[in-house]
Amino acid sequence: MDKQYTTHHYDVVVIGAGGAGLRAAIEASSHDISVAIISKSMLGKAHTVMAEGGAAAALSNKDHRDSWQTHFRDTMKGGKYLGDWRMAQIHAQQAPDRIRELEQWGAVFDRTPVGLTNQRNFGGHTYPRLAHIGDATGLEIIRTLQQKGVHTGIEVFMEYTVRKLFKTDGHISGFLAYNRQDGSLHLFKAKKIVLATGGITRCWEVCSGSWEYTGEGHALAYWIGAEMGDMEFVQFHPTGMIWPPSVKGILVTEGVRGEGGMLSNSEGNRFMFDYVPEMYREEFADTEEEALEWVAEVISGKLATKRRPPELLTRDVVAKAINSEREAGRASEHGGAYLDISWRDEDEVRKKLPGMYHQFMELAAVDITKQAMEVGPTAHYVMGGVKVDPYTQETTVLGLYAAGEAATGLHGANRLGGNSLSDLIVFGKIAGEYAAIAAKSTLEYLDINQEEIDFTIEATLAPLLRLDGENPAKVVEDLRHMMQNKVGIIRTEKLLKEALDDLDKLEERAKFTSSPGGRVYNPGWHQALEIEAMIDVSRMCALAALHREESRGGHTRDDFPIPDHQKWGKINSRIKQDENGNMVIDYTTYPPIPDELKAHLDKDDLHEEE
Ligand code: FUM
Repeated sequence: MDKQYTTHHYDVVVIGAGGAGLRAAIEASSHDISVAIISKSMLGKAHTVMAEGGAAAALSNKDHRDSWQTHFRDTMKGGKYLGDWRMAQIHAQQAPDRIRELEQWGAVFDRTPVGLTNQRNFGGHTYPRLAHIGDATGLEIIRTLQQKGVHTGIEVFMEYTVRKLFKTDGHISGFLAYNRQDGSLHLFKAKKIVLATGGITRCWEVCSGSWEYTGEGHALAYWIGAEMGDMEFVQFHPTGMIWPPSVKGILVTEGVRGEGGMLSNSEGNRFMFDYVPEMYREEFADTEEEALEWVAEVISGKLATKRRPPELLTRDVVAKAINSEREAGRASEHGGAYLDISWRDEDEVRKKLPGMYHQFMELAAVDITKQAMEVGPTAHYVMGGVKVDPYTQETTVLGLYAAGEAATGLHGANRLGGNSLSDLIVFGKIAGEYAAIAAKSTLEYLDINQEEIDFTIEATLAPLLRLDGENPAKVVEDLRHMMQNKVGIIRTEKLLKEALDDLDKLEERAKFTSSPGGRVYNPGWHQALEIEAMIDVSRMCALAALHREESRGGHTRDDFPIPDHQKWGKINSRIKQDENGNMVIDYTTYPPIPDELKAHLDKDDLHEEE
């Protein structure tokens, strides 16, 4: 089989063409260097579009009381204080400028009556903070960045999958990729690389992500020696579609609840009132009357001074509540909960949530202006990822940067909705900037070990040469089913140990999958190559989840149901490969929060006196 490859040279290569990748590439190219961006699918097709409801930034357009300090506070609280306060501060301070910049680049945000960027409510945000474009915010952000990016001279490589990163004398030096259309092989030599590969949620059966989300970025970083953090924390968005089965998992934006959507169970009870955690009790309504008053004030444009409806609790809380109602036998007809926005004016619903209106009408024959939707949790985001320097986004591998969902730090144990789009543009810019500055002072491309290149090519072509192995699709299906049942919303020691055993068995099966049929348009081959990454990222999640014997944010242990602030409240898991290639775990802490920032946090939450 032809093992020829084409070699490319770029000062900076950004792997991943979602919001973080595009923003990083735009920034890097402004430094007058050569920049390439690698996209696994077509440009514009990114999971970023699944952040529908908005981008969080304390613009204070809807409520003048908002500030970066409150955004910082909400992010830390929502993340159950496991986030890196330095990233939370940078993010809260810089997000408004990044939104204004997008507007200058042509993003058409919705407007307030006086012409300011409109902002809506979302879970865990004290004030209406999400700049939005109906319910297609991620899509508009990608469109804007793409349009800006193609005019900056960035070279775009579409439908390329990266197989392995290379290091030379401890510094990143390049990677091998293949073209998914024609199967050609490509060696990229790069002075600096930015990983902006997004997340891993295709490892679960019910997820909001599309086929690209198989975790290669996380795995590539891990395989090259980068430290990974917080991999036990996976976000199950409370509201995915659950019916019909063919659309299970597709996102129902939190914007529905932000616009007043109410959740109820099969008995017609608005159950979220029963699930308000102690740490949020002051901020959320106790009664339906109180919640309705708040909604009425928001709709009429007044500043809502009262406590928010409990549907606007953080995602971890809402997802678990829906799960608990199901366990208690009070699920909706198809096993989830009812989400109702039909009480609002029909035209308003269509104007504010046009995507949801069409999605339910076309996929489920449900008219959301008249009927309740049926929703349930769907794997949506991973808070864990590659550990980065908060100021430069450089990983623990020299010359390798990471941003967006591929990186960890900002969101702690649970991400607030809307903080992903702002994360992408804030830290995408920083990663691109620091990678470019560092590339400019790097004179030479480093040599890459030929044996490593040859080995990677052999491994890439191997499934094509095995003629009678198992179908890779079956292995992937079994893996996703297993992760759904054993490393899902509710975990136990027994299930997690079983999951780790199952992953060993799946790994053995994966070695013998075959995908004959040639290199051109061969989806079986692509899938055979993805499994290795899926197994390792799933293993990271299961391992970290097994060790964290408490429940916090996006990690719930049935056998350790409450947070253990003393033991686990300040430590973040770290996973890496030891010298024998084994996956090992230990714990790190971020530096203490300075007093001037601590003053913005809720003192009781910090459990410092215990
Ligand atoms: O619900 C949503 O629109 C998703 C937003 C996000 O994940 O940030």
